[in-house]
Amino acid sequence: MILVTGGAGFIGSNFVLDWLAGGGEPLVNLDKLTYAGNLANLAAVQGDARHVFVPGDIGDTTLLQRLLAEHRPRAIVNFAAESHVDRSIHGAEDFIATNVVGTFRLLEAARGYWAGLPADEQAAFRFLHVSTDEVYGSLAPGAPAFAEDHVVEPNSPYSASKAASDHLVRAWHHTHRLPVLTTNCSNNYGPYHFPEKLIPLMIVNALAGKPLPVYGDGQQVRDWLYVTDHCSAIRRVLEAGRPGETYNVGGWNEKTNLAIVHTICDLLDELSPRADGQSYRAQITHVADRPGHDRRYAIDARKIERELGWRPLETFDTGIRKTVRWYLDHPDWVLGVQSGAYRDWVAAQYGQAA
Ligand code: NAD
Ligand code: TYD
Repeated sequence: MILVTGGAGFIGSNFVLDWLAGGGEPLVNLDKLTYAGNLANLAAVQGDARHVFVPGDIGDTTLLQRLLAEHRPRAIVNFAAESHVDRSIHGAEDFIATNVVGTFRLLEAARGYWAGLPADEQAAFRFLHVSTDEVYGSLAPGAPAFAEDHVVEPNSPYSASKAASDHLVRAWHHTHRLPVLTTNCSNNYGPYHFPEKLIPLMIVNALAGKPLPVYGDGQQVRDWLYVTDHCSAIRRVLEAGRPGETYNVGGWNEKTNLAIVHTICDLLDELSPRADGQSYRAQITHVADRPGHDRRYAIDARKIERELGWRPLETFDTGIRKTVRWYLDHPDWVLGVQSGAYRDWVAAQYGQAA
């Protein structure tokens, strides 16, 4: 059995679905169900006895100790985080609480549990921390992509909180010998992506006839990876990664934001044309830039390929087409998110104002 945290969010729910679909062992899914946690993402595994959902906070030491003692996981995969840069600019408190203090509490609970395991289980145990390329800061045009030994220079409250958590994970290995693994991945996209992030926001706004807000000149570059490729990288690192090591994960897909928005508009023009015959590109509007906006991210993913044989399966063309199709095919999911109905259900089910 493994313990997954944040498994009701975008990447975590994709990971849980893939893990169970691939015949993976049972898992406990601990998620606080913040605005970003959505149990509708996990509808396909409702009733699957291998999926035990526990609403709760990675900062709750008592709960963590109970779950670890009860379920005796062989690994912890930590997705739980506050993840949206714009929200971190408006208020960083939750980012520090979950990404920094929460990760610290999870590490401490893991260490206590791991220390009490028999030697063979101790040797096999892994704590995998899911992190981001944003910890490395911003790249100049033409500069080499981020390798694992790139200097850590976070620029946003979000990336600073993730960098802090990465440092804690590293220290728990060096000081306490906890067998940790860290992955730093580039921007993900795909099904169940909350429509506050660039790609799902543009799809959802386009279909609703709303403006498509491009920050600044739209020439910022991100390196996009289809979410199931990120999930396969995590599974591979969990299986064969060397404790104490960091693996950068990316899709070799650098694109400007404007190019992304144009691609989405063109796909929608093809798959769901506007009634007035105009292109969705007509809805693009340039708005004020994000403060401190990182200009470029790019991942050098050669280490994970060389050492663990991992490569992405999707190209950007195949992944973005699947993604646009998924949003067109799941209007109920979008509606549930927009209306907040998924949160009402959580409150009814778990008796909390999550
Ligand atoms: P998300 O915001 O969609 O989901 C986060 C999940 O964590 C939600 O289900 C939320 O309810 C849960 N959560 C938040 N605080 C919690 C707490 N204190 N205790 C328990 N659960 C809590 O995020 P995501 O995009 O799925 O990202 C998952 C992880 O991957 C994050 O650590 C993020 O930093 C990292 N990451 C994301 C991307 C990306 O492009 N989205 C890229 C690289 C790395
Ligand atoms: P986002 O999806 O928030 O991911 P991150 O900031 O973690 O990379 O944003 C991706 C890029 O798109 C980023 O450069 C900011 C830009 N962006 C817009 O131009 N408009 C938007 O409405 C959003 C949400 C993002």
